[in-house]
Amino acid sequence: MAFPGTGKIWMNGSLVDWSDAKIHIASHVIHYGSGVFEGARCYDTPRGSACFQLEAHMRRLYDSAKIYRMEPQIDRATLTSAVLDTIRANQFKACYIRPIVYRGYNTLGVDPSACPVDAAILTWEWGAYLGKEALERGADVTISSWTRAAANTFPSLAKSSANYANSQLIKMSALADGYSEGIALDTAGYVSEGSGQNVFVVRDDILYTPPVSAAILPGITRNSVIQIARDLGFTVREDMLPREMLYIADEVFFVGTAVEITPIRSVDKIVVANGRRGPITEAIQNAFFDIINGVRPDTHGWLTYLSPGAPQKELQSAHASQ
Ligand SMILES: Cc1ncc(COP(=O)(O)O)c(C=O)c1O
Repeated sequence: MAFPGTGKIWMNGSLVDWSDAKIHIASHVIHYGSGVFEGARCYDTPRGSACFQLEAHMRRLYDSAKIYRMEPQIDRATLTSAVLDTIRANQFKACYIRPIVYRGYNTLGVDPSACPVDAAILTWEWGAYLGKEALERGADVTISSWTRAAANTFPSLAKSSANYANSQLIKMSALADGYSEGIALDTAGYVSEGSGQNVFVVRDDILYTPPVSAAILPGITRNSVIQIARDLGFTVREDMLPREMLYIADEVFFVGTAVEITPIRSVDKIVVANGRRGPITEAIQNAFFDIINGVRPDTHGWLTYLSPGAPQKELQSAHASQ
């Protein structure tokens, strides 16, 4: 979906018009992928707009910057406030949030240390990433022929622009083969993650998800889903998963800021169970959507309201299936 091209973007401390948010072609990030970024969401709740797990996203952004020896010019608290200011300036009730910290314009040697560490925040309205129907009916996916990067090559704990060269290969080859997403294995052949999502498998009422040692981005939705599943009384295990676990699973689903919680109905054309969203996936989806939509109490303090103290509107159920 193309951008409407309107509204404001925050760049190094100022809000500028969308059409003026430009950087020089000689900026280091363009040539060498020297950027780290985040993807978060703001939801429209009965108490006004609220960002989901904003603190966790901003912490991961600064962790990513640290891994790449980048020192943002402003501190985390100030950049977090700037996220809220940008959403307010654009008057969005709900939106996707993309803060990025990147090496800017100065020299083009591989050593980036002489380049400024710049920052920007974009916000835009972005609906269901794999389509609204996928939230209920599920996505058809394939195991990618591309693997995730080996340990000690591209750090998977950093959400770095460079890592998304690999994600693009996974996504493009899945689409070219007629699937909506690809799941990559790690270099040892165990399940890692989708091009932009973490994966959960259910077998005999136990949830499994690959550990951080399987070249995954430690997803914030993944952490939230582990917590929600445990709150609902399920057992969750972080385990190395052979690819065939996906074929014999009772349920498989993706989690991530963009996909939220999306069931997977087939893997490599092998139908997962009966090809319908499973009951555990649905229970977790319902709990997740009720929290982000402000219907269920936010017991873990995951929501940051744009206007704290605003009066509450009438509560309404907001399940993905309704
Ligand atoms: C490669 C990759 N894995 C997992 C995720 C899910 O992470 P999160 O839940 O923090 O959005 C994302 C999305 O950012 C991603 O790009």
